Amino acid sequence: MKKIKKKLPLDKYIDQALYDKRNGYYMKNITFDKYGDFITSPNISILFSEMIGLWIVMYWQKLGRPKKFNIIELGAGNGEMMFQIINILEKFIDVKNCLNFYIIEKSNFLKKVQKEKLKKSKIIWLDNISKLKSNNKCLFFGNEFLDAFSIKQFEKINNIWFEKYIYEYKNKRYFKNVKANIKKYIKVLGKEFSSNQNFIEFSPEQEKFIKNLSRYLKKNFGGVLLIDYGYVKSKMFNTLQSVKNHKKNNILLNKGNADITHLINFKLLKKIFLNNGLKVNGVISQGEFLKKMGIFERAEIISKNKLFNDKVKIYSRVKRITDIYGMGGQFKVIFASHKTINFNLGF
Ligand SMILES: C[S@@+](CC[C@H](N)C(=O)[O-])C[C@H]1O[C@@H](n2cnc3c(N)ncnc32)[C@H](O)[C@@H]1O
Repeated sequence: MKKIKKKLPLDKYIDQALYDKRNGYYMKNITFDKYGDFITSPNISILFSEMIGLWIVMYWQKLGRPKKFNIIELGAGNGEMMFQIINILEKFIDVKNCLNFYIIEKSNFLKKVQKEKLKKSKIIWLDNISKLKSNNKCLFFGNEFLDAFSIKQFEKINNIWFEKYIYEYKNKRYFKNVKANIKKYIKVLGKEFSSNQNFIEFSPEQEKFIKNLSRYLKKNFGGVLLIDYGYVKSKMFNTLQSVKNHKKNNILLNKGNADITHLINFKLLKKIFLNNGLKVNGVISQGEFLKKMGIFERAEIISKNKLFNDKVKIYSRVKRITDIYGMGGQFKVIFASHKTINFNLGF
């Protein structure tokens, strides 16, 4: 019989691959641009972050211009988004003077990168929400934050549920289905997401995070704006993927040297927010959100006196993040908040 050296459920394998203190992908030399393995919207066009910055200004106004308001970025990568948001807020100095900036970041390596990029700004770094002791009104935001969490996968074969594991034998890895009891997950998923389903993808870690975040938002009159790639359907499918050098990678290979990610099921995410006593003000595609926020008008203003080549650069980048057949359609935006808040700008 084969001597199995290691066996891990998929979520534990992903967690090791991404966040092992020494060898985890996010804990090492990672970049978010064309030289790295993947590129994110804030690193494609600064107008992406500008639109979020403007959204923050309008939200602050809607809340009655609180004198002390906390802005918290979740998973800030190389710090580009926070950098551009703070930049645009310089133009709204009455707003900026009321804001305290925080970043919640898990990777010590990325914290260092962020601290260097944002060294001119006053920002407090925290490891997790439980470290946030302030009770000011607040807004959390995050781009491609939830897709960096680990997931579990279950498959129903002949009416029996199995969980996907990764076994290691003689330095080779392979998938193996292991019989599973999924009662506690079905409780969270409810009928809509568990019946008529032969495949379930679910992140217990994400659900725990949303639970803690929702508790904080309910207590502190807060909201959270999240942008990620995903879909809006009850029927689930296998969305697990790994990328290296902007190309697909076999998730069993290059452990710790390739990103592992998945699509967010925004319908399920909405349900989890509602289950936790929040209100969901809207879910919309990134393209529509950015258009409603005026990204094309802004592109026109900043490209006015530019040379033709620079104009092309500005517009092609905006097209890349708004195109409904590309990132603009694949990515979605969700805004969840304290029940008493009514704000649906961009939705
Ligand atoms: C895919 S990257 C996105 C980076 C950035 N937001 C962007 O759009 O370029 C995910 C980020 O979330 C961080 N992260 C993942 N899980 C986290 C957690 N539980 N708490 C805090 N940060 C986390 C990662 O270290 C990384 O900075």
